[in-house]
Amino acid sequence: MWSVYPDHFALFGPTTLPAHCYVRLMLELHLVLPPGPGRRAAVETALRDAIRTGRLVAGTRLPSTRVLAGDLGVSRSTIVGAYEQLSAEGFVASRHGQGTIVADVPTGRTGVDDEDLMGPTPTWDFRPGEPDPTSFPRREWMQSVRRIVSDPSGDAMAYPDPRGRIELRHALAAHLARTRSVVTDASGLFVYGGFAAGLGFLADAFRQRSITRIAVEEAMLPMHRIVLRMAGLEVDPIRVDDQGIVVDDLASTKAQAVLVTPGNHYPYGITMSPDRRAQLVGWAELAEAWIIEDDYDGEYRYDRRPIGALQALAPHRVVYAGTASKSLAAGLRLGWLAVPEELRHPLTAAANLRSGVSAIDQLALADFIDRGRLDRHVRAMRRTYDRRRRQLIQRLGAEVPELTPNPCAAGLHLCVPVASPRVERDILERAEAADVGLLGLSTFHRAPETRAGVTIGFSRPPEHAFAAGTDRLVEVLRG
Ligand SMILES: Cc1ncc(COP(=O)(O)O)c(C=O)c1O
Repeated sequence: MWSVYPDHFALFGPTTLPAHCYVRLMLELHLVLPPGPGRRAAVETALRDAIRTGRLVAGTRLPSTRVLAGDLGVSRSTIVGAYEQLSAEGFVASRHGQGTIVADVPTGRTGVDDEDLMGPTPTWDFRPGEPDPTSFPRREWMQSVRRIVSDPSGDAMAYPDPRGRIELRHALAAHLARTRSVVTDASGLFVYGGFAAGLGFLADAFRQRSITRIAVEEAMLPMHRIVLRMAGLEVDPIRVDDQGIVVDDLASTKAQAVLVTPGNHYPYGITMSPDRRAQLVGWAELAEAWIIEDDYDGEYRYDRRPIGALQALAPHRVVYAGTASKSLAAGLRLGWLAVPEELRHPLTAAANLRSGVSAIDQLALADFIDRGRLDRHVRAMRRTYDRRRRQLIQRLGAEVPELTPNPCAAGLHLCVPVASPRVERDILERAEAADVGLLGLSTFHRAPETRAGVTIGFSRPPEHAFAAGTDRLVEVLRG
């Protein structure tokens, strides 16, 4: 299946991750069964290859037979049989109380090789996540970069403040106040190499303050769950309903922090209701817990003015997170946190050259914002994406009426529920065969019984390929 997440397994090995992550990572390692009979043999071959090539290293605990059967869409007895066969061959060993563990067999692999950890890019790319690369405002960006690097003082060439260049923090504070109602100033802003990096630093700061449990939405960007786990936090998934995260469920956990996407739940496409926002803030006040608001695509709202950030309700309890990955380009690796007073010291203490990003890029973004170019670019892209979104909804309604997207007029993707995990898998298999990139909801949650569906990103295809790509997509969805 297509993925949009790097192969962490190859990078970090298995030891730092809990068992449930392996399932996801195994799927990302293309542990995908070809359709047709002989499922048990196919499972055995896929696992044998993964072990032989070193993708599954010695000591890795394989998922339980129930979980793997659910993830791969086969019966449990198929997995039991495959594990028994691999055990007889010496590829795995079953240990009482520990499950099935990968045995120490010679592999042809010596470490991370030069294969691209992001995997291949489909020709017709409807995976959610990134803006149209051809829309990047190249000329204006280059003008900003040129201004920065030709500054005769050479100021941009020095090591930057590890919290981020002050020029960018000032520009962001004003921009976020104006466009997202965020309450902060330059001293509360920290710049990182994308939200993923900022989340890692924040999780480290939580650990230092003896915060060990964080709640997350039941479906989420898997990479963020991994970042939290790698920082040593226990992660509690919480149900999401049509108003957002279910705060009553959250209140019954011992979580001291929660990571949410209130503007547009990722990937379900649900805007957190005003009541739920108030309830969430109420919980945080009472529990003296922290809310991390991941406002990854808050700029893109199509039915009304963008809904202001939750952070404005409780700036002393909410860490607001923003990114350039949707508004400009993910390749910039620029993200920021607006941090409550109490967390600034630990984050400043943790800030060092490891957290820094290119001063040239930071200053270019500050210049780009100050000149009003980010506003202009987002306004133009909002129109483009709104048109694409409406075209897509119209085509689905006319040609595949049984697939109705969740009604969220925001963001860069549609979330289309389907009847069962089996239907989801069928669509994804057809998409892969047609070289159409789609992601299923199973990419985003751990439990097979959670919702089934597909996410259709409408931002990635270049403008010239959108219509032809949509034709392909509709064919795939029609089956
Ligand atoms: C839910 C969510 N949050 C945040 C981000 C942005 O992360 P980053 O700034 O690390 O690119 C993404 C990008 O895909 C995302 O899907």
